[in-house]
Amino acid sequence: MKNIAILGFGTVGSGVAKVLTENRAEVAAGAGEEVCLKYIVDVRDFPDSPFAPLLVKDFALVEQDPEVSVVVETIGGCGVALDFTRRALKAGKHAVTSNKQLVAEHGVELLALAKGKGVNYFFEASVGGGIPLLRPLFNDLSANKILSMKGILNGTTNYILTAMDRSGMELEAALKEAQRLGYAELNPDSDLDGTDAVRKTCILADLAWGRELKPERVSVEGIRNVALKDIRNASAAGGSIKLLCRLLRGEDGLCYAWVAPHFVPAESMLSGVNEAFNALIITGNMVGDTMFYGAGAGSLPTASAVVGDVIDAVRHASSPRGIGWTGEDLPLGDPEELSSRWYIRNGDTWSLTDALPAAKVPAAEAKYRVLD
Ligand code: HSE
Repeated sequence: MKNIAILGFGTVGSGVAKVLTENRAEVAAGAGEEVCLKYIVDVRDFPDSPFAPLLVKDFALVEQDPEVSVVVETIGGCGVALDFTRRALKAGKHAVTSNKQLVAEHGVELLALAKGKGVNYFFEASVGGGIPLLRPLFNDLSANKILSMKGILNGTTNYILTAMDRSGMELEAALKEAQRLGYAELNPDSDLDGTDAVRKTCILADLAWGRELKPERVSVEGIRNVALKDIRNASAAGGSIKLLCRLLRGEDGLCYAWVAPHFVPAESMLSGVNEAFNALIITGNMVGDTMFYGAGAGSLPTASAVVGDVIDAVRHASSPRGIGWTGEDLPLGDPEELSSRWYIRNGDTWSLTDALPAAKVPAAEAKYRVLD
């Protein structure tokens, strides 16, 4: 039997407790032994929770308990989450997380720490929530040169853009609806500004190309300036506006990484990805296009990926997988130099350009790169 601890009893942490409990038999069958939830660490009180007896406030209890072999970090951010993860790994415990900010900003350090201690550090849920993406990328597709990745990896903004299209709302009203339904957080900045999508883009690049892509190097434009008239114009032109994460490897060996709203033509497989769903197309030089689709956020879908990692950590407890990338900077080209067609709007005039680099696009109130 292996004991585990959950750090942070929020949306994802409570989902992990539920999956471990309700699917106890499936988890045990996958892991090859029982997986028992021993502690939940949170500074808050949850007197009405069925998990109340497991709640503790002091992480040191987990850190110093030799019976705990896997720690699940679902706190988020890079404050205590970083401190606790470092301490858990240093104490020789496997660590699993859904925290994309932590992996994007401190992955090199934490993976090296895990390697030095002979334990696993897994983060499948950090990109695409419940969709299996990272393990296929570093495992099943590892015979390929990864040529490109493009996808919708932020559920909140995809929900907002879909709601604008379907209900004719401007962004502010669609955001309020997304908040009312629990898709968007009270502070939606990291979703609207594209920061969340950038972190996921970095983790994909790190894994695909083996060097570090720091979030501040990724060119980003969020969705705050997407107007209802752009959505309407895109629809009339037979497509839709989607916030895309883009990664390309050029023949010159340079990589290109950016996040921006794009015009997605109806024939693209990404055009049918609506509401809070996520999808990613990974193109390898041998396999061609592969597409992954599903729930990119939410308590149980995200917990499904987290618990999958817990199972894998238990299965590979004595022979860690040793995934990782170096701290060397990924060589980057400037995405502004890549030519494509663009839809541009001035006033109510909406038109399509020839293939142009960004600097050559005529001045416009709004411009959207066309996904080719
Ligand atoms: N805020 C994120 C999203 C949560 O909307 O996709 C999942 O990473």
